[in-house]
Amino acid sequence: MIKRVRSWWNGADKQETLTISEDNIPQHVAIIMDGNGRWAKRLGLPRIAGHQNGMKAVKRATIAADELGIKYLTMYAFSTENWTRPKEEVDFLMRLPQEFLAIELDELIEKNVRIRMMGHEEHLPSHTVNALREAIRLTEHNTGLVLNFAMNYGSRREMTECVKDIALQVQSGELAVEDITPELIDKHMLTADMPDPDLLIRTSGELRLSNFMLWQLAYSELWFTDIYWPEFGKQHLLEAVAEYQRRSRRYGGLK
Ligand code: FPP
Repeated sequence: MIKRVRSWWNGADKQETLTISEDNIPQHVAIIMDGNGRWAKRLGLPRIAGHQNGMKAVKRATIAADELGIKYLTMYAFSTENWTRPKEEVDFLMRLPQEFLAIELDELIEKNVRIRMMGHEEHLPSHTVNALREAIRLTEHNTGLVLNFAMNYGSRREMTECVKDIALQVQSGELAVEDITPELIDKHMLTADMPDPDLLIRTSGELRLSNFMLWQLAYSELWFTDIYWPEFGKQHLLEAVAEYQRRSRRYGGLK
């Protein structure tokens, strides 16, 4: 079988190109954007400068994902645990979706990107929810890349809600216990109409999942990098995808 192959300059070293097969692009990439605070500290800047520059990296990752033909890009923007940060930082993070969309939405619409949100609207300030809802509404018929913001998202909370939903349906007689299957659980998750991530990226050298998509990541390939999120660019996404394509996915079976 002849594979269509495309070479990309990796941006760091002109001698080196990355070979990416167009036949094996991950459909869904999920990213834990970590290291904003450490990036800022290294430069002697306040933590919020890290988040501000992290927002620019969201744009770079989105454009690069779209160019590569990735269909779903899920970004962990705010976790259910992030509320414990100082109020000033939380307030700043809550303003970022609004700011990002004010700057980028027109271009994203032009690129046929569809905005989604995965998480719990409760406790989010109305300006955050309204900005996201408006972007979701304006892009709902777009058929290109799905840019899915995990906002006030926590996997354990998602699974708890899922268990409660199913328990209520069993209690009311709508479902029998025997009807509970992995496929049924999938349908009750916030990702019900999305494929599971093929590839998870985490920046900043931390090697953990931090309550992110624990159900959906069961068979995802994991890629970790030491760079801090505000430094993330197209070349890093290409490196991650090139590595993904070198992996052999066996889903517990043999190949
Ligand atoms: C973790 O880094 C990062 C976050 C909690 C926030 C991530 C948010 C963004 C990158 C911007 C989101 C943009 C939009 C448009 C929603 P950290 O601050 O915990 O880093 P540290 O571990 O170095 O302190």
